[in-house]
Amino acid sequence: MAHHEHQHSTAADDATQLEMLDLDAEVLHEHLAEITASLRELAAPPVRRVLDLGSGSGTGTFALLDGFEAATAIAVDASEPMLAHLAEKAAARGVGDRVRTVQADLDESFPRLDGPIDLAWASASMHHLSDPARVLSEVFAALRPGGLLAVAELEGFPRFLPDDLGFGRPGFEQRCHDLLAAKRAEHLPHISADWRTLLAEAGFTVAADRTFDIHLSAPLPAATARYAEVTLRRMHPFLAARLDADDVATLDTLLADGPGGVLHRDDLAVRTTRTFLAATRP
Ligand SMILES: C[S@@+](CC[C@H](N)C(=O)[O-])C[C@H]1O[C@@H](n2cnc3c(N)ncnc32)[C@H](O)[C@@H]1O
Repeated sequence: MAHHEHQHSTAADDATQLEMLDLDAEVLHEHLAEITASLRELAAPPVRRVLDLGSGSGTGTFALLDGFEAATAIAVDASEPMLAHLAEKAAARGVGDRVRTVQADLDESFPRLDGPIDLAWASASMHHLSDPARVLSEVFAALRPGGLLAVAELEGFPRFLPDDLGFGRPGFEQRCHDLLAAKRAEHLPHISADWRTLLAEAGFTVAADRTFDIHLSAPLPAATARYAEVTLRRMHPFLAARLDADDVATLDTLLADGPGGVLHRDDLAVRTTRTFLAATRP
């Protein structure tokens, strides 16, 4: 059986992931706005019913509701806490009546939807699935002819630190990312899937395929330091068991509330690569 993060997560893990997803939305707000704008150009109207697969805390759901003002959204996720948080946010934003949450494990079955979908969205969720090709076929069947599917993917956690960081030994963050990449390759084999080919094999016509090399430097969005801190905290248990003693000390310093901690540093940046594909059901 394939490994899935949601099957092994604890309540504390869920809370950290939730916080991380919300901070990702805040820090990468401009990128998300650019993607939403391109969806408005690519999607054939009318867009009334949107589907967010692996919605998490609702970043895509809310971006789509903002971008398509006549639409309602169905947010699907395996995680109850994510969906509860999303529903709370929807109410707080005054769009509670435009969102329906559906708890479903897409590895087990595709949810029953009460009618065809105009626009489906799957951001950083397809790579978690044990059989993304099967789910893509199910999304294809759920869309109306002319409907659009957007797939956003990422290589992993963003990077925040200068390359020369590492007490006495530069390259601390690179060493962390090398360990995480090896873990992902083992547990998330679809992280580097060829989405363009998988979409075509499911019957879609690819309408957009873009890679964004995002590099934010000062002035950074206000949430950046917290995003860096939560990201490192989430990586900590895995890395602390594998890094050498000097690097563990660096990690602990970065997470401590002192001058070397990420919350107080003035040399942070945000670097991440995101891919975005949009494909239509002919
Ligand atoms: C990295 S998060 C991305 C969340 C959101 N789409 C975003 O971009 O912020 C991946 C989400 O996929 C969900 N997920 C993973 N495997 C799933 C499955 N088999 N069925 C349904 N949801 C799943 C997780 O619970 C998590 O909320």
